[in-house]
Amino acid sequence: MEYPHRPVLVDEVVRNLVIKPQGVYVDGTAGTGGHSEVIAQRLSTEGRLICLDRDPEAVRISKQRMSPLADRVTFIRTNYIHLDRALKDIGMGRVDGILLDLGMSTLQLDHGGRGFSFSRDEPLDMRMDPDEGPPASQLVNTLSTDALEKILREYGEERRAKSIARRIQREREQRPIESTGRLAELVASVVPKTRGPGAKHPATRTFQALRIAVNGELENLRLFLDKAPSLIEKEGRLVILSYHSLEDRIVKQAIRGWEKGCQCPPDLPLCGCGLKPLFKRINKKGIRAGRSEIQENPRARSATMRAAERI
Ligand SMILES: C[S@@+](CC[C@H](N)C(=O)[O-])C[C@H]1O[C@@H](n2cnc3c(N)ncnc32)[C@H](O)[C@@H]1O
Repeated sequence: MEYPHRPVLVDEVVRNLVIKPQGVYVDGTAGTGGHSEVIAQRLSTEGRLICLDRDPEAVRISKQRMSPLADRVTFIRTNYIHLDRALKDIGMGRVDGILLDLGMSTLQLDHGGRGFSFSRDEPLDMRMDPDEGPPASQLVNTLSTDALEKILREYGEERRAKSIARRIQREREQRPIESTGRLAELVASVVPKTRGPGAKHPATRTFQALRIAVNGELENLRLFLDKAPSLIEKEGRLVILSYHSLEDRIVKQAIRGWEKGCQCPPDLPLCGCGLKPLFKRINKKGIRAGRSEIQENPRARSATMRAAERI
């Protein structure tokens, strides 16, 4: 069967993550199982892969995809911020490696009318977990213009955030904005079209911003990173793929902080905090996809992989 989502940097992810075939690994964002399948194939029969996703449709598909490897895979539908609890529930402690492949999957973008795409007209939802939190339409129709502007500016790095927020305000006074098509259209009336290679739809940044807000993506990442050191065994690995600078900055800063350990001001003659380094970087810089992968899978263009080892 053909699966809609093509995993990014698969060889690099698996090489940096799986250091023990008999180890216990977590794919915290299993999606339709592209990375998970290769990780599970790399494990011996004593190894274990725990696959998490907050999207019930993703869990259904990855379960089906990995049925031949069912002897070594466990599926849990949950937000990865609850990984500590999920591991406890299945009687497990620290693991040998965790992968997060952030953002949304092609399944969510292109299939199922989930409201992630500006290319089709569908209900303005954007929730990865349809049972958690309000849909994007609720944000668009009820937030103040200042709050909307802040979301568009911070999560979409949208220069025309103010004009878009004002336009939304005017439009919703006529009637609520309930569809992706209507939102895309009104954003396009404010944001000029770009041309040439790399040109993006005018609503790209607005949709990204709303998706990040609806799913609490940056807050989740921060919460997870706070817990990560207590979830990974010594010499275990953390591998994170991010797709925009906001996520990547959070990951990079967390790894830097762990490497440094001590948080005392530099002018203090002796360390008073006693904090020791928790991880070391595996690669000095983030790993990017090569030209041939990008040609085959344009989504790989914006990916950055960072990997660290627990010490
Ligand atoms: C880029 S896709 C992963 C694709 C996957 N690596 C593959 O090869 O098919 C990201 C997935 O992470 C899930 N996700 C995003 N945030 C999550 C969270 N906080 N907890 C659990 N799953 C999350 C999404 O539902 C989506 O399925």
